[in-house]
Amino acid sequence: MATLAESEQDFSRLPDLPADVFTAPLKKPEHVGDDWLEPKQTVYDSEDDAIWNDLFKRQMEMLPGRAATAFMEGTEKLDLGRGGVPEFGKLSEELDKLTGWSVVPVPMLIPDHVFFWHLANRRFPAGNFIRTRETFDYIQEPDVFHDVFGHVPMLTDPVYADYMQEYGKAGWKAMRYNRLKALGSLYWYTVEFGLIEEKPGDIRAYGAGILSGPTEVVYSVEAESPNRIMLNVDRVMRTDYVISDLQPTYFVIPSFEDLYRQTVERDFDKLYKSLGPGFTYANTAVIDVDYVVNRGTLEYTLRGGRGSGAKPV
Ligand SMILES: [Fe+2]
Repeated sequence: MATLAESEQDFSRLPDLPADVFTAPLKKPEHVGDDWLEPKQTVYDSEDDAIWNDLFKRQMEMLPGRAATAFMEGTEKLDLGRGGVPEFGKLSEELDKLTGWSVVPVPMLIPDHVFFWHLANRRFPAGNFIRTRETFDYIQEPDVFHDVFGHVPMLTDPVYADYMQEYGKAGWKAMRYNRLKALGSLYWYTVEFGLIEEKPGDIRAYGAGILSGPTEVVYSVEAESPNRIMLNVDRVMRTDYVISDLQPTYFVIPSFEDLYRQTVERDFDKLYKSLGPGFTYANTAVIDVDYVVNRGTLEYTLRGGRGSGAKPV
């Protein structure tokens, strides 16, 4: 059966990228190999550790009742609040016992095909640096706080852990069809900005982009501005997204099992053949087939969003 992933692909070593595949050109720093892994994790000083501790404290004050239960449990299982930037070796040991994942340091954003390959091998690449006090609230490039605090707790959930591995395998199939943008949308609206309805009317965030910052934690689950729509994979993969502002629309899953089933069991060959190279729907759109949880006012977005002075309400 054709699925999300390329079942015949061997991921034991980094596969060669076919010549007709388009990926973003990134310049590899000289000190890393083809796997883009840092030889070792940065040794953080006391100010770096203090930044981690302050970020951790701020987020943990906002998350109860807003973050997915699996996320909150993950932070405890991995003891992310033990003080200072977590040591990846120790973190990986604990994560390995739970779901067989590990965390590996990378210098910066890495090429898609290398990222997918690590995920397919249950390795999560995490930034080998931490933000400064000047960029405390928002950074464009994912640092160790976004990557480890935002992403890693969810990897303690067995079903979510499997979803992430399948996503990595799926990347190779999407590349062959040159449909990375569409698959990127799925990542964006699930792994980075996903919401889950844990009980009727109880919507929580599980996306790392939401959970690693102070504003979107509240906005995504409580504000009247954004649309909240039940996730439909075909629809999401046709939907545009913004990378530098709060989302006008979030997609909600009923469970991680449902997310896994919708993506892994879907015939993506058919889907990729039907998709155009661009997106069909604007990120503000609500369409006829949507199962709408909350139709948003879009007030924040319509007032101009980030930089306009609009309140995230
Ligand atoms: Fe991320």
